[in-house]
Amino acid sequence: MMIDLPVLDIVQEPETTPKSVESNGRKLYVETYGCQMNINDSEIVLSIMSGSGYEITDKPDNADVILLNTCAIRDNAEKKIHERLMHLKYYKKRNKNLVVGVLGCMAERLRAGLVSEKNIVNIVVGPDEFRKVPQLVEDAIGGQSGIAVKLSRVETYDDIVPLRTEGISAWVSIMRGCDKFCTYCVVPFTRGRERSRSFESIVSEVRGLWESGFKEVTLLGQNVNSYFDEPLQKDFADLLAACATAVPQMRFRYSTSHPQDMNDKLIETMAAFKNICKYVHLPFQAGNNRVLEAMNRTYTIEHYYERIDKIKEVMPGCAITTDVIVGFPTETDEEFEDTLEVMRRVRYEGAYLYKYSPRENTKAWKMGDDVPDSLKGSRLEELIKVQRAITWEVNALEVGNIHEILVEGPSKKNPADWQGRTDTNKVVIFPHNEHSGYIVGDLITVRITQGNSAVLHGEIL
Ligand code: 5AD
Ligand code: SF4
Repeated sequence: MMIDLPVLDIVQEPETTPKSVESNGRKLYVETYGCQMNINDSEIVLSIMSGSGYEITDKPDNADVILLNTCAIRDNAEKKIHERLMHLKYYKKRNKNLVVGVLGCMAERLRAGLVSEKNIVNIVVGPDEFRKVPQLVEDAIGGQSGIAVKLSRVETYDDIVPLRTEGISAWVSIMRGCDKFCTYCVVPFTRGRERSRSFESIVSEVRGLWESGFKEVTLLGQNVNSYFDEPLQKDFADLLAACATAVPQMRFRYSTSHPQDMNDKLIETMAAFKNICKYVHLPFQAGNNRVLEAMNRTYTIEHYYERIDKIKEVMPGCAITTDVIVGFPTETDEEFEDTLEVMRRVRYEGAYLYKYSPRENTKAWKMGDDVPDSLKGSRLEELIKVQRAITWEVNALEVGNIHEILVEGPSKKNPADWQGRTDTNKVVIFPHNEHSGYIVGDLITVRITQGNSAVLHGEIL
């Protein structure tokens, strides 16, 4: 179950610098925090920096440049970065010439404050200014700290091929920014206005990924349903269909959808292609219409239910997950009950559950933070309890079902077993032996033998 996984610490373990670029002898280490978009952003930064001659290292110990790509969505995400910066003091003591940079959403939010505050940070770079990183690092080596935090209406890094780690799953950003302005959310301020990449460049990137061995692509955007290629007049459903057609053997996922824009065309497109995974992440945030309005979510819970019913009608068996915030300003106990009601009615396969965290500059910031932390905590606990029971129940119903899974490799818990993922995004553990004849990245068929836990177990057919 996906309970409160707000900030995944994902440390890049990148490939080495492309051979064609002459090395400048300096080593770069990048650490990534936050959402999937940030993983892809770090790959863009790695690409830019290796193009300037940096060698990529997977350890901070011997790096000449350490960059943290950061998240600002909740206060605890930022706290983590502050703590990490304190650790980096140790590296600075050992290497006086070390350049430390803060990139991404927190850089955009805190700007110059980050440099003056800690005496650790040399450069601060917002999400639309990654092209300036090589010059800013160069200046920092010369003793000049630098800040680049301008947001752009056009930057999509469309021409930059992200430097990906080897693997079978790739993230592809199809748009940047967000225009929704949910009142609790800092993203429109840290990532700026919404803009889409060109249709053709995305389809050609996806083709290239298949050719270099990737088996699964997740198309990313803050609200992918708003994707639009103006010159070609193509929307997100068109893009998904074009990708699925261009590489029929590749699996496609996407994230995230907004309930207001989750239209019939998209649902029907998903149903029409076998290689578009039957998995929808559809955050509802709160179950009460007054709270939804205060959040500026622009839909009612009745509209949300109608969309869920449509998904279930057109794609029976489609897995649905969600995001929920508890303790939004002025949320009463009765209004929180409405959130519980949605969880019980929809029966999600999993949910990311968060306590409301006030963010400066947002509209909700001005509403105060009147739900005490202890009450947010008990509401969260209740949601976790309800969702855990539902996850286990829906997983128990999987026993006997047949799934095609994408083989990922040894199971994290017990490497003697292997694991793969269903197109509904569930992990299946299965017994492995070296004579079984499959390799990582193969699609194999399994029957589910056990489902009474957070993950499924299966046998190969
Ligand atoms: N406090 C708590 N959760 C938040 N989210 C976004 N902003 C906040 C905030 N200020 C959650 C929403 C969103 C997910 C990515 O993070 O549920 O869908
Ligand atoms: Fe934030 Fe709302 Fe945009 Fe999602 S849709 S990034 S919650 S403003």
